[in-house]
Amino acid sequence: MRKIVMVAALASCGAAMAITDAEIEALIGKMTVEEKVGQLVQLASAGKADGPLSEDATGVALPADVAETVRKGGVGSLIGACGVANFNAFQRIAMNEARVKIPLMVGHDMIHGVMTQAPIPLALSCAWDEKLWYDCGRLIAVETPAKGCNWTFAPMVDMCRDSRWGRIAEGPGQDPYLGGKMGAALVKGIQSRAGALPVAACLKHFAAYGGAEAGRDYNTVEMSESTFRNVYLPPFEDGVRAGALTVMPAFNTLNGVPCSVNKWLLTDILRGHLGFEGFTISDWEGVKECEFDRHGMAETHAGLAVLALAAGMDQDMMSGLYQRELVQLIQDGKVPMSEIDRSVRNILKVKNALGLWENPYIDEAKLASQIDLAAHARLARAIAAKCCVLLKNDNSVLPLEKGARVALVGPGAEDCDSISGTWSAYIENRFEMTLPEGLRGAGVDFTYTPCYDWKKGSVDSDALAAAAAKADVVVAIFGQRGTESGEGWSVLDVALPKVQVEALDALKATGKPVVALLMNGRPLAIPELAEKADAVLEAWCPGTSGGGAIADVLTGKVNPEGRLTTEFPVATGQLPLYYNRLRTGRPTEVSAQYLSCYRDGPFRALYPFGYGLSYTTFAYANEKATVADGTLTLEADVTNTGRVAGVETVQAYTRQMVGVESRPVRELRAWRKVPLAPGETQHVVLNIPVAQLSYWAKDRLVPAAGPMRAWITSDSVSGKTLEFRL
Ligand code: NOJ
Repeated sequence: MRKIVMVAALASCGAAMAITDAEIEALIGKMTVEEKVGQLVQLASAGKADGPLSEDATGVALPADVAETVRKGGVGSLIGACGVANFNAFQRIAMNEARVKIPLMVGHDMIHGVMTQAPIPLALSCAWDEKLWYDCGRLIAVETPAKGCNWTFAPMVDMCRDSRWGRIAEGPGQDPYLGGKMGAALVKGIQSRAGALPVAACLKHFAAYGGAEAGRDYNTVEMSESTFRNVYLPPFEDGVRAGALTVMPAFNTLNGVPCSVNKWLLTDILRGHLGFEGFTISDWEGVKECEFDRHGMAETHAGLAVLALAAGMDQDMMSGLYQRELVQLIQDGKVPMSEIDRSVRNILKVKNALGLWENPYIDEAKLASQIDLAAHARLARAIAAKCCVLLKNDNSVLPLEKGARVALVGPGAEDCDSISGTWSAYIENRFEMTLPEGLRGAGVDFTYTPCYDWKKGSVDSDALAAAAAKADVVVAIFGQRGTESGEGWSVLDVALPKVQVEALDALKATGKPVVALLMNGRPLAIPELAEKADAVLEAWCPGTSGGGAIADVLTGKVNPEGRLTTEFPVATGQLPLYYNRLRTGRPTEVSAQYLSCYRDGPFRALYPFGYGLSYTTFAYANEKATVADGTLTLEADVTNTGRVAGVETVQAYTRQMVGVESRPVRELRAWRKVPLAPGETQHVVLNIPVAQLSYWAKDRLVPAAGPMRAWITSDSVSGKTLEFRL
């Protein structure tokens, strides 16, 4: 298997190697057991709640307990943005006052921006645009040091097939190929060294966290090794290849063994198979979660520390277990020094790769010159507009006609949490953030009356009718609060709440065209909107310039080009729901005895993977599949058949008809975004290395062979079937 050499991966990010490997070894040789164990420990930068402060030599007041631990060499990294002054003060203690001079890393979750927020990652994935993901990573790279951090716990590349799981918001959807490209581009952007101090990325959550049974957060994950290797592992492989410096093992069990103490996963797969050379950081108290009355992997904490370290967990986030247990365990001969040295080495190499010995401090002058919030807001706005997915647009009700009077109704238009979404603690940039601000900026003639809530109470039908009466078109907000997805936000039901369905009916009764504007962090079951609204625009949690971005799309300044990266179900009972499912031996389409279908509803998604409309239309012709010299070539003529310019996302899928294990209905193999002027035709050619069609059958990589089908088309269900053989 390919071996990734960290130095080479980092060189691609322009890393400056400040000290040599021999110097790292010399440093390890000089360290006491306590100092070595200190490197394996992560503590909160804020210290004990209400603990005393102590001033450093320059007068910066730091939590006294943390400052003292840094001084003693008792900690390798801190969690929690601590501000530039504190970061530099902690670092001065580490570099000038500690016996062995080892710089600190300070990390937190800057997953879709920091002061400026781009849309949530699920939304970002809908842009199908590597450059955009890279740009978002660079934004994170520039703004992270402003909060006193040089490490972000992103990207999350967990595949997810079940939108009951709230953390679907944090990842790139359900396709391993697309998710891997997105994760890799984010890693490169985050580690681009664009900011006032280089920032490390962290691939998480290793692995298969998104496969939680029944979508319940932190739940058991049971899956075949083939599914694990074909679907859940590839995005991590791409992220490692892109040079990610750190990896966070997941909370869940994987086929019975918690990831935090899973040697097969953390050593054989991560290091052996993927060639990872950075360091692993547990999730929050992840090692401690394996204790006897939780996952139950050891009777004592000491036993857990032995297991986790042996498995390959290098640094312990916040459980204090390594800090309390490891020194004694070494003295008792229960943990070999070689394992400690291995993890210290992994950590020091990452710190060196970040150039921290050469420059440990956040450069305040550079920071001041780089934090251009107006420019960042413009970027976030352009990104957010590209992430919107148009799901329905009957009679071209969108874009809004110039001069149209708009009634904006529904919850959330002024609620910044809903616009920014999960992990938004550090927002400072509020340029045209809310919808009224955005619409005002775009010169739209509108009134805003909430009329109904996200979930509770009833619809104020009188206010709603009055608002609609004075308008030509109603733009109505549906969905979920931005705080209702993310960690710990699993739900039993992804249906639209009753009050929103009532609001839709009341709106329909007004006779005015209804544009449903969806804001949410997860795909919802929205058959009512699909049937009754005239247009449905999915805007997700669009970030700090979300209001402006939505206005750009509603008014047609931006023609929507987003495509879904997860399926939208008709009903919660369909979950998990994914396009790249295996086939069954029974037809799925008809509701009859002994067929693989539901008796009380459809089997297929309401809106499939890859789907999304534009203000123009596209047609495909002359589709062709050929194989030569180890390359599958799919080609088609794609025409913009409408009246405005637009961008089509041309997608290539294959299906292997016969395999050593059953193969999926379709798998995404390539895509290209093609801008087309009205009436323009482009001949689009997508080349796919045949090696990319190989698949894992347990731990064996099997080349694709025999009869194959392919599609070059606009989503995961349409297109002309092309046949070929390998
Ligand atoms: C728990 C979450 O699972 C993880 O994604 C996050 O990075 C850590 N907490 C730290 O905030």
